Amino acid sequence: MARRPVIAGNWKMHNLQQEAIDLTNGIMQAIREEEKSRLPEVIIAPTFTSLYAANKALKDCGCGKVRLAAQNCYFEEKGAFTGECSVQMLKDTGCEYIIIGHSERRQYFGETDEMVNKKAQAILQNGLIPIICCGESLEQREAGVTDYHIASQITKALRDISSSDAAKSIIAYEPIWAIGTGKTCDSKEANRVISMIRNVVKGLYDENTADSIRILYGGSVKPETIKEQMAQSDIDGALVGGASLKVDSFSQIIKGAM
Ligand code: 13P
Repeated sequence: MARRPVIAGNWKMHNLQQEAIDLTNGIMQAIREEEKSRLPEVIIAPTFTSLYAANKALKDCGCGKVRLAAQNCYFEEKGAFTGECSVQMLKDTGCEYIIIGHSERRQYFGETDEMVNKKAQAILQNGLIPIICCGESLEQREAGVTDYHIASQITKALRDISSSDAAKSIIAYEPIWAIGTGKTCDSKEANRVISMIRNVVKGLYDENTADSIRILYGGSVKPETIKEQMAQSDIDGALVGGASLKVDSFSQIIKGAM
């Protein structure tokens, strides 16, 4: 089955509103001439306070080539949860995707597998798409428990989620030791882990679901690495951090995935 590639930019805690508008416009300008059918699905994930501005820039352009994601959400609909944003609020701001379970959220903000699962369910119930992150630490890799750890994260994240919902979800494999370090995971090894994840999905559901779900690689993705990554059998795209903050590098990555 042909899975449409995805290139998603996770801006993390960067960009004030005007910077978000400029970057959004720059990306759209850079891909303006590209055939929509050849483009990968392009997603940007600004921080909460820049979502409105980025969404407005996307709408004003009207080219419909770039989609909006949030970097986090809370699973309850509304209530006394100071500082949190519900899925409905993010949908209201133009988000179609929400990143959940990023290793930085797990590490600094105590996000657990159970929370990731509740968030995934809330996102899908509201008609949005979760980008579910998983990944091992250097210690786990050296201890030889990478596959076990990732399989456990994915199994827990997908608990009580139907096969049709799982099929439209996106998973991002981001080895923690490759994030922001410049040390990209070897493409063949990333592909091996990603096909292992696809196998886990097949075990939880069936072959169709495993063939449909898109699984991205993340961790020091650069314009120079994208072609080799995209040439692998199971890598469906990239979740890009640092290189998504510059029009030049992000648009080169998008074009490298075409
Ligand atoms: P870098 O591309 O900066 O390594 O970040 C990857 C990441 O964490 C994307 O979510």
